[in-house]
Amino acid sequence: MSIRKIFYQLPPGLRFLARRLYHLPEDLLQQLSNKDTIVPPKGMIYTGGGDFVATGQKFANFLVDLCGLEPNGKVLDIGSGIGRVAIPLTKILNSDGRYEGFDVVQKGVNWCQENISVQYPNFKFAHVQLKNDLYNKDGKDASDYRFDYEDESFSHVILVSIFTHFLPEELEQYLFEIERVLEKGQFCLATFFIYKDIKQLTNTSFRFDYPNEHHALMDQKVKAANVAFRYSYLKNICNKSGLEITAFHKGSWSESTPKNHKDFQDILILRKSPI
Ligand SMILES: C[S@@+](CC[C@H](N)C(=O)[O-])C[C@H]1O[C@@H](n2cnc3c(N)ncnc32)[C@H](O)[C@@H]1O
Repeated sequence: MSIRKIFYQLPPGLRFLARRLYHLPEDLLQQLSNKDTIVPPKGMIYTGGGDFVATGQKFANFLVDLCGLEPNGKVLDIGSGIGRVAIPLTKILNSDGRYEGFDVVQKGVNWCQENISVQYPNFKFAHVQLKNDLYNKDGKDASDYRFDYEDESFSHVILVSIFTHFLPEELEQYLFEIERVLEKGQFCLATFFIYKDIKQLTNTSFRFDYPNEHHALMDQKVKAANVAFRYSYLKNICNKSGLEITAFHKGSWSESTPKNHKDFQDILILRKSPI
């Protein structure tokens, strides 16, 4: 069994503790150096590996470069985690701009409120008690969740590594809600694991061994661990929700020889109809 699989089997609380302890010496040193920049302690970053600052900056820049975000834009960050995208957005949005993030993990939301909202009051974070078998064992079904925001109240919606942890019913509900809260003609950037051919699912060591009709799981016991979706299905449900796929940037996850990919995950740019 791979280390990744063993990690997924641990309950969320235990995974959090293990990470906290592992990074404790480094985090204490960082605290002593008292840097001005907002960055969470490494042991609190429960949202995936890689360079936290560089990845956040990259996705914030994509909102500008691929989706036309302006300094007075209104951004909804679904699954805002521990502020990876919010932190660089504090330098892109001005005081007329608006940022709202929500997440199912209370610790991440608390950290963002205490470290980002205190300095940037137009950045707000909300906790929602929804179930996800990787991140939060208790709560209501995300497949019934109506976002707590007005219709057409955002110019941009972003989801970095969220739909990669969703089952089809949850994805369908969220796409429907994204369409509702987006202004007409505006954009959503979302990452996925997308396959057109079932062979792509097992091309690399990042494998999805449990295919279903429209999606495939990496782990049968922890279903949200990682989920891939078939492109034809995604296209169909995006259309049904009133969102058009305007760009598909293939990620490197299924490539045996990665080239100039924008990210490890696939990126879709979705646009709500202008009329
Ligand atoms: C891989 S992390 C990515 C976090 C953040 N977007 C980032 O890029 O750092 C996935 C996030 O999705 C959140 N999540 C899981 N289910 C959710 C749901 N139904 N609604 C909103 N967020 C959810 C998790 O708590 C976690 O913070």
